[in-house]
Amino acid sequence: MTKYFSEEGSVQAVNARMGPEINPRLATVMAALIKHLHAFAKETELTQEEWEFGIDFLTKTGQICSGERQEFILLSDVLGFSMLVDAINNRRPAGATENTVFGPFHVADAPIRQMGECISLDGKGESCRFVGRVIDVHGEPIEGACVDVWSDNSDGFYDVQQPDVQPKWNNRGRFMTKSDGAYEFVGIKPVSYPIPDDGPVGKMLGSLGRHPYRPAHMHFMVTAPGFKTIVTHTFVGDDPYITDDTVFGVKETLVAPFEHIKGDTEWRSPFDFVMVAE
Ligand code: BEZ
Ligand code: FE
Repeated sequence: MTKYFSEEGSVQAVNARMGPEINPRLATVMAALIKHLHAFAKETELTQEEWEFGIDFLTKTGQICSGERQEFILLSDVLGFSMLVDAINNRRPAGATENTVFGPFHVADAPIRQMGECISLDGKGESCRFVGRVIDVHGEPIEGACVDVWSDNSDGFYDVQQPDVQPKWNNRGRFMTKSDGAYEFVGIKPVSYPIPDDGPVGKMLGSLGRHPYRPAHMHFMVTAPGFKTIVTHTFVGDDPYITDDTVFGVKETLVAPFEHIKGDTEWRSPFDFVMVAE
């Protein structure tokens, strides 16, 4: 190897600069990142203009970020990268509830509500009763599980996107299970919505001929002492975007029944959460 940078020896030139004392995991991750980044430029014969375009895109992505908006996570989501990292880190036995993307709209410490209570505070949308149990892989109920739920309203917006329009904590709540592991709450039948697409990520989707929509879903985060946390959604199976989620979050096992029994005023969506011990 020569002492200087060359096209052929580019990866080694950069990776050889790492100090001997650095964190071994950092060394592994950075070495792989440089290897694949350089391979990308070589494979595509990246032009100077394309490099500048990429730098400008990343700059704009950073500039639009704020306390309320995380455009880099959105970028990771639409590239399928969030779902890949989630899949690698949440391999579970068959029968356990699968994870999916967390999304940017969770708010910690939502009100703890009574079982059966309604989370839809704006009176919009079609009522839907969500029911089920939190159980372990042997089917035993889990007591003291927290079922934290959140969804958009029937106009396709989360409360945090419309702080001056929607009541605070609209379509959010936490429900604590008792010894039967059961949970129950009333929300709305979810509707599909576009992810925030007025920034660089939305523009990128447009350039790629992609739409920004997510199929209708209800978000759940289920926690219980001694069990691995489940971050997931349940999906409405007949949604037009069910096989075309812009963030690739749909898994077959997460498509839940949404039943409307004739004469009933509300929909009903049964779904059990199966947790794996730590
Ligand atoms: C969501 O489902 O809330 C969501 C997930 C990923 C990106 C944007 C929104
Ligand atoms: Fe969502």
